[in-house]
Amino acid sequence: MHSSLSANSLSSDYEVTEGRVGWQSPSNIALVKYWGKRANQIPENPSISLTLTNSYTNTYCSFKNNNDGLKVKFFFEGKENIQFGARIEKWLASLIPTFPFLGNMDLVFESENSFPHSAGIASSASAMSAIALCICEIERIMGTHVVDFYQRASHIARLGSGSACRSIYSTAALWGAIEAGHDEYAVPMKDKIDPVFHTFQDAILIVDQKPKSVSSSLGHQLMENNPFARPRYQRANENMTEIFSAMAGGDLEKMGTIIEEEALSLHAMMMLSNYLLLKPGSLAIIEKVRKIRNSEKWPLYFTIDAGPNIHLLYPQGITRQVKDFIEIELKQHCSEERIIYDMVGNGPVNLIT
Ligand code: DP6
Repeated sequence: MHSSLSANSLSSDYEVTEGRVGWQSPSNIALVKYWGKRANQIPENPSISLTLTNSYTNTYCSFKNNNDGLKVKFFFEGKENIQFGARIEKWLASLIPTFPFLGNMDLVFESENSFPHSAGIASSASAMSAIALCICEIERIMGTHVVDFYQRASHIARLGSGSACRSIYSTAALWGAIEAGHDEYAVPMKDKIDPVFHTFQDAILIVDQKPKSVSSSLGHQLMENNPFARPRYQRANENMTEIFSAMAGGDLEKMGTIIEEEALSLHAMMMLSNYLLLKPGSLAIIEKVRKIRNSEKWPLYFTIDAGPNIHLLYPQGITRQVKDFIEIELKQHCSEERIIYDMVGNGPVNLIT
């Protein structure tokens, strides 16, 4: 594997044998979507996302040297999750060539999300990026000098879950081979976008709280036999070029048009594979958003991931009006009237400094 992983670290001359690390890492919302991948988690098209504030995962990891290989235990909200632990162990085992210390290590993860378990927004991005940061932190404690800690964390986060590589950076991140981007890790975009996006709002309307009916891994896999996959990747590349200039220039209308097309394209791809993930409530919200945008001229736009929940994105300046609109007009379409008010944030936080 071509990798900056081995290139930017120097081996340590001492080893710490046990300890505890902890990182908080946020979720992110993609504006141009990653949907389709090749071997080794290489995306078929580049993507760009906004990093969130209130939707995050806190993960602590206790580590202890052993003599019998990598052993992972994973506790989520106090309860052991054996299946997830096995997935993490497999991922971390694949990293042993570049993180040799993992080869003789007991790791116990304790993790919790800021968002309710049943909100239907459980994403692997915050979970996997927090774990990746913990692993890089253990490496740092062991005395290994790494040129770019965050790039290394983004790189291994990607191997756990593609979208997780973007959660490593504050405000906005780009992943994929376009402009200054890279297929193997995300790069920060904060300095390349208009400040209006630094405080952008994301109201997450929970239309359905059930876990996703189609996992992202199945969704990516379905793209392999989708006859419209090539034109979709081409279009995503064009949308990336367009959204760069829109975000650099603070052109909200242009950005909004692109993100809505991206969300609907993702769902169109799923429909071509016979999956319908949107619910009547999702469509009702979309119609009302488009209507009020026309009448009030608000820069209010939606995006959607691979499920029925709707993210409404808007500048901080219209927060009050949008909140009133949501509470009066849209809340009724949400499961148990559940809405998560989130906004663009500052990225991961080291919990044990
Ligand atoms: C629709 O990152 O969850 O949210 O790499 O298989 O773990 P894996 O997939 P994942 O896919 C995210 C898909 C998306 C769009 C996006 O975040 O770009």
